[in-house]
Amino acid sequence: MKSAKSIYSCQTCGAQSPKWLGRCPECGAWNSFVEERGAPVGEGRSAAGALGGGGSQLYEDVQADAAERISSGISEFDRVLGGGIVPGSLVLLGGEPGIGKSTLLLQAAANFAATVGPVLYCSGEESGHQIKMRGERLGVTRAPLYLLAETCVERLIDEIDRVKPALLIVDSIQTVFSLKLQSAPGSVSQVRQAATDLLFIAKSRNLPAILVGHVTKDGSLAGPKVLEHVVDTVLYFEGHQQQAHRIVRAVKNRFGAVSELGVFEMTATGLKPVPNPSALFLAERPANVPGSSVFCAIEGSRPMLVEVQALVSASTFGNPRRTASGLDPNRLSLLLAVLDKRAGLNLSSDDVFVNVAGGMTIEEPAADLAVVAAVASSLRNRAIPSDVVVFGEVGLAGEVRTIAQAALRAREASQLGFRRCLMPDRSLAPADAPAGLEIVGVRTVGEALDALM
Ligand code: TYD
Ligand code: MG
Repeated sequence: MKSAKSIYSCQTCGAQSPKWLGRCPECGAWNSFVEERGAPVGEGRSAAGALGGGGSQLYEDVQADAAERISSGISEFDRVLGGGIVPGSLVLLGGEPGIGKSTLLLQAAANFAATVGPVLYCSGEESGHQIKMRGERLGVTRAPLYLLAETCVERLIDEIDRVKPALLIVDSIQTVFSLKLQSAPGSVSQVRQAATDLLFIAKSRNLPAILVGHVTKDGSLAGPKVLEHVVDTVLYFEGHQQQAHRIVRAVKNRFGAVSELGVFEMTATGLKPVPNPSALFLAERPANVPGSSVFCAIEGSRPMLVEVQALVSASTFGNPRRTASGLDPNRLSLLLAVLDKRAGLNLSSDDVFVNVAGGMTIEEPAADLAVVAAVASSLRNRAIPSDVVVFGEVGLAGEVRTIAQAALRAREASQLGFRRCLMPDRSLAPADAPAGLEIVGVRTVGEALDALM
């Protein structure tokens, strides 16, 4: 018996089709279509009133309470959220397995429960016992923190009605399923349904909720991109398991600046906020070694000093290698071509390796001059003085171009004890320079290299 109509949906991007397809026309994934039963018509619509309901309203009449925020008790987490959790908002926290999502949320839940009110922590991945063991490591003390090992969204909603929490955490959304659909938990339609149900709960009860989302092998949030449209805020956990520091980055935020980030350090007793990441990234910088330069990146609203390292060595094969980590390899090729043509540095028979220390990734063109400086320093085997910070975009003619927020970068460098700053001429008026920092304006790559070495 076929009661509801079957539809096929792509498990990678959520595209739907009335018949099975071998390859998704939207995202190009192969063999990703799975048969699912469509939601009964009207089911999703009945709850739609939760977002406001009662017909249209005049713009002037809509109450806009200056979104009050509730602190999670973790400074760096509040910062990525835009200053705390907004009541009624739905936050999605994505990241690779083992990166620290559950750890961070348990810490936030414990703080929240102690200061604001009851928290319901619903886990479909770990039993209450396992969570408790983790909590003991984290030093979670007595607080109204309710643990629920549950994967059915309808039963979760019943529990919300019973506990009346001030914060809901769902770890993870991929394990939650709705009785309304027959497809397996984790499938696109199930994840979308569960997230939509929770959205209505969050909006109608003014209950903030944080959902954990898994990422796929290629690093995007697993299954549905649709989830990113449903929620108010999307945060990604970045970092390597081998490295102690972790970064949480906002990629979408209806209530705050996007690309804002929070830095944490994983310790034996959980995640610790790192209020001054520049010091962390520069902690292991070798002094007076060729091939190292310091750059000031801007991430969100915050300046961050990072070390760019380069190693130039004679190539043993005919085809020299160019390897970039934490940096776009095409950008590196371009910069090496500029060095060759405009600054007369011959790299055609050398391997070039460039690395951004500490596992950071930099995308800003403002890092160009620091990369060029590190490569030239390694090639000439002359160290750049350790109290110099370098930034500026490099153009194809070998010119150094102005960059945004030079004053902010200079101030951060000055605070961390740097004495000289090489930057594009005209980026910063000498009067605006922070005290104790000498600004050296340069116009071309050649000028910059002369000033450095
Ligand atoms: P976890 O939060 O379980 O990751 P996720 O939920 O994102 O899958 O993090 C687990 C990792 O963190 C694990 O490898 C152990 C490490 N860890 C610590 O180093 N210190 C701690 O206090 C805790 C709780 C975990
Ligand atoms: Mg987990």
